[in-house]
Amino acid sequence: MSGKQKEPSKEPAIRMVMLPKYTNPDGDIFGGVILSMIDEAAAVEAQRQMHHRYVTVSMDSIQFHRPVGVGDIVSLWCQTIKIGTSSLVIHIDVLSNPRRTSEEYKVTEATVTMVAIDENRKSIPIFPKKVV
Ligand SMILES: CC(C)(COP(=O)(O)OP(=O)(O)OC[C@H]1O[C@@H](n2cnc3c(N)ncnc32)[C@H](O)[C@@H]1OP(=O)(O)O)[C@@H](O)C(=O)NCCC(=O)NCCS
Repeated sequence: MSGKQKEPSKEPAIRMVMLPKYTNPDGDIFGGVILSMIDEAAAVEAQRQMHHRYVTVSMDSIQFHRPVGVGDIVSLWCQTIKIGTSSLVIHIDVLSNPRRTSEEYKVTEATVTMVAIDENRKSIPIFPKKVV
């Protein structure tokens, strides 16, 4: 295998302010909005590791620890925990900074598996084999 796994990024893959358009009728942010951001963050992390076309093949161990409110600034931190042949397993922690506070705490976490694919949607190696 040529190429190797990068160290975790020192920046969040995504940071976003939660707008009223993302809420349910009770004013809380929809869990599905957070899941969508997790999927996007995993795609950003996969690209940071190696440039390919990727698809999400699974989302596991999703835990919603605390609610997210309007105006909260949400940050998604990614850590690649495994690179297989064509798959990357990425753990994502979602932190929330409630509006007008300096607090920040974990609201959600999940593990996402992304697979690198070619133009025929067939899985391909993340790191091509070295030609000797
Ligand atoms: C991802 C996909 C190409 C894999 O196809 P496949 O025939 O299972 O491919 P392979 O058998 O070569 O497996 C490829 C890799 O995916 C991993 N994989 C496959 N299914 C998996 C699953 N359910 N969970 C975790 N990893 C999985 C395999 O372990 C393998 O990893 P490795 O290469 O690192 O060892 C195919 O399942 C697919 O296209 N799924 C739809 C993805 C998609 O459209 N996502 C967006 C939904 S809107």
